[in-house]
Amino acid sequence: MKITSVLAAATLAMASTTFGQSTCNEWAPCYREGYCNTDAAFCLWGLCDESKSYNSTSCWKPEGCVSKVVNFDSSSDIVPIGSYAGNPDTNAFLSIFEPDNTQVSNSNLELRMTYDASANKGFGATAKSSHTIQYGRVTARVKTASLAKGVVTSFIIINEQTGDEIDFEWVGLNPDQVQTNYYYKGVLDYTKMLPANVGSDSSAAYHDYTIDWSEDKIVWLVDNKPIRTLNRADTYDASTGVYAYPTTEGRIALSIWDGGNSGQQGTQEWSGYPTPWSADTVYKAYFDTVTVECAGGSTPSSSDDSGSEEPSQTGKDEESSGSDGGSHEPTGAPENPKCIPRPLV
Ligand SMILES: *[C@@H]1O[C@H](CO)[C@@H](O)[C@H](O)[C@H]1NC(C)=O
Repeated sequence: MKITSVLAAATLAMASTTFGQSTCNEWAPCYREGYCNTDAAFCLWGLCDESKSYNSTSCWKPEGCVSKVVNFDSSSDIVPIGSYAGNPDTNAFLSIFEPDNTQVSNSNLELRMTYDASANKGFGATAKSSHTIQYGRVTARVKTASLAKGVVTSFIIINEQTGDEIDFEWVGLNPDQVQTNYYYKGVLDYTKMLPANVGSDSSAAYHDYTIDWSEDKIVWLVDNKPIRTLNRADTYDASTGVYAYPTTEGRIALSIWDGGNSGQQGTQEWSGYPTPWSADTVYKAYFDTVTVECAGGSTPSSSDDSGSEEPSQTGKDEESSGSDGGSHEPTGAPENPKCIPRPLV
């Protein structure tokens, strides 16, 4: 339902200060990062905080996995999250940030990063899949933005609530490398990042990067060749008695972000710095296709891209929790919500 500004003012006056209980009302039921509202930017599973939303059914449910190939032949393959009506079969990916630095061009998804003078750093883009995935094989055909120090391109599967994450990342400092990583419950352990050689400049040509995720192991592949295998059995932590292994449902996320001007030393040294910027510099990362093969499902039936998919994104950083993967990317906070959000007191 639509909320009017008059109504918003009224709800604002009634905002509850109780923490840990429902803080949103039925007119703006979905809670995200301090605000209540009605649309996808607030209600989408993974972004919406159920514990502070109006009731247990307010946040949208996870969409589940659908095997498919997204070719980015249609402009509807990605839509700004503020315009997303909630049908994952209509839009495979959602652009999370505003302004929207994504577009479909020449049958590729283009993610752009431009200069934000006020912040003295790049403002990038993140595309998240409208479907979720819990185990399966996801391949992205990527031409990275590793054109300059500090520019980070990423392709990950992420659950922002649990902090589970499986990553491919490319940094401008090492254009011939791809780095793999994973996080369990957001524990920041950077010793698990491993670089691999792509064989050539990752920004010069497309390559296929695959995350093959099962209950027993994760295999990362480049052009169908395994470059790393993580066995769940090897993640056992005797001190806690748990396997520090990503298991929870997530979204595919594709991103470009500025690590070099992030202001975080570890991230800057990792990505290269400073990122070269002038007022009209634009860095671009390209995604030709994203292929999703759900665990236990059939192989993708066609190259039709009007179906759905699942993306997610993140970077990795020293202080980011595994949940947003990175931390360097622009924050996911909605900047220009369509409706007038109700700030919590
Ligand atoms: C949650 O709120 C909706 C909308 O007001 C209502 O229809 C539904 O019955 C509520 N569900 C629960 C479990 O309280």
